[in-house]
Amino acid sequence: MCGIVGVIGNNKTTDILLNGLEKLEYRGYDSAGIYVNNQKGKDFLVKEVGKISKLENAVTDDVQGLVGIGHTRWATHGTPTVENAHPHFSADNRFYLVHNGVLTNFEELKTKYLADVKFSSQTDTEVAVQLVDHFAKEGLDGEAAFRKALSLIEGSYAFAMVDKEQPDRIFVAKNKSPLLIGLGDGFNVICSDAMAMLDQTHQFVEIHDGEVVILKKGSVEISKLDGTAVQRDPYTVDLDASDISKGTYEHYMLKEIDEQPNVMRKISQNYLNDDGTMNIDSKLLDEMKKADRLYIVAAGTSYHAGLVGQNIFEKIADVPVDVELGSEFGYHMPKLSKHPFFIFLSQSGETADSRQVLVKVNEMNLPSLTMTNVPNSTLSREATFTMELLAGPEIAVASTKAYTAQIAVEAVLAQALGQAKGIAIAKDFDVKKQLALAANGIQTIVDEKATIKQLTADFLTDQTDAFYIGRGIDYALSLEAALKLKEISYIHAEGFAAGELKHGTIALIENNTPVIAYVNDGVGASHTRGNIQEVKARGAHVLVIASQKYAEAGDQIIIPEIDELISPIISVVPAQLIAYYASLARGNDVDKPRNLAKSVTVE
Ligand code: M6R
Repeated sequence: MCGIVGVIGNNKTTDILLNGLEKLEYRGYDSAGIYVNNQKGKDFLVKEVGKISKLENAVTDDVQGLVGIGHTRWATHGTPTVENAHPHFSADNRFYLVHNGVLTNFEELKTKYLADVKFSSQTDTEVAVQLVDHFAKEGLDGEAAFRKALSLIEGSYAFAMVDKEQPDRIFVAKNKSPLLIGLGDGFNVICSDAMAMLDQTHQFVEIHDGEVVILKKGSVEISKLDGTAVQRDPYTVDLDASDISKGTYEHYMLKEIDEQPNVMRKISQNYLNDDGTMNIDSKLLDEMKKADRLYIVAAGTSYHAGLVGQNIFEKIADVPVDVELGSEFGYHMPKLSKHPFFIFLSQSGETADSRQVLVKVNEMNLPSLTMTNVPNSTLSREATFTMELLAGPEIAVASTKAYTAQIAVEAVLAQALGQAKGIAIAKDFDVKKQLALAANGIQTIVDEKATIKQLTADFLTDQTDAFYIGRGIDYALSLEAALKLKEISYIHAEGFAAGELKHGTIALIENNTPVIAYVNDGVGASHTRGNIQEVKARGAHVLVIASQKYAEAGDQIIIPEIDELISPIISVVPAQLIAYYASLARGNDVDKPRNLAKSVTVE
């Protein structure tokens, strides 16, 4: 989703902005722009629709300066056009501003304060920059006008603004949308995501909601909106640029699929000791032991990992679990149990739909845990406890290794909780052994790429619709498998409970309709075989992915041995590869599918 970069005090401003925007490309965007000011009265605004490479081509050699802001836009208000691309500017060309988020009262502000202003875009963002200018025209200086505008604006935002009359500073503010300050050697930067600025610095400072930052070449002044000063120490981001490179791979997605065996090993090494003990915060376990129900809150792929986790926690830790979509749960919260405990699953740790639930959970003083791949992310900072997914940076929009890491970390926590509660089954479920099996099993599947590529061609060439079916654990898995196929191949796909198909949707099965059936669930296996016969009888072209235990002659993909509870860690991998090869065959942008964003920071 929208990405922000900015730099002050470095004579390579333009290069730093463009390089930072390239690093943010993975978040998803449809237009981009930069504003650069040389602090001697000359400035430049360049905006383009489409890829960053197009923006780079449009930036001429004379676009140089000592302060600049840049932006990738994922359209919300107004179509992707040059006019709607950021940076936006005030009608008198004094203020230039970039924004990530959605302003909820922009129409009201426009009517009340800006009735006479001529707007050049259809965006909510332009209202913010015109509003600052409006208060400046009333006599306030740049900072006071910025603060006054912020006091009226409602909604989510990360703002960075340059005032041509004071080009020695960048005005920054944040509410709900992510933004960080980076400390350079003699200069400072801002970015939506540390990855954008790792070439410049590894030292970052968080900005919290409701804070304003005046960023200069040699100083970072953080304050609350009322002006009260805030002191905050920097932290080091322990990543290097090679962690976010594609290496020899054509696409991040394939690299990330291949990394999954190592992710399993890393989770095991980090959380599980050889003597059988676990590195899990005892305070977390004490808090979870008190819970009469776990509420797992997530979106998209993370929600699907939550559905797998539900089964794991219920069986191993003997606790009832509800799995909830953040976008629904926050606004239609059911009656909670007496002692709820919340688990937020989020690769990015920034998903606005999940975050608004966490804000409410904190208002109710309820305990929570965030499982995330990004330490220091918003959800991680704001929850009571954090567990890291340890998957390493996931750049492809389609989530792969974060999903399998989420299931693995859920299994680790479930076993720790089950043991802490003295649940018998938790003693027998050897999570260390299971993660070793998972690593080996994933490796077996990724070594079969050529076969899976051929199966994808056999089953999905020229197809517009497909079904994944399964029961129990395989139903949860089917939802994720179908999402993967949809988001990058654009084939309409549905994940279906195998037994439910005959209650209506089977009407869509016709000659050659691809149906991919999972048979890993012991209780459901024989029934799913029956459902396979039903769709075959209606002409479906059926591909079966079955565990060794339940496999039959003719099944195309066999899943190596693993405990059924965490079997999706391995059995999702064929679906990830099928989606990858189907997308590739269609000539799609595998890593940056249309309309999607990696980090969904608006509700
Ligand atoms: O960062 P999060 O895990 O909170 O993101 C949630 C979803 O937006 C994300 O999983 C999305 O569904 C992915 N594109 C799936 O591949």
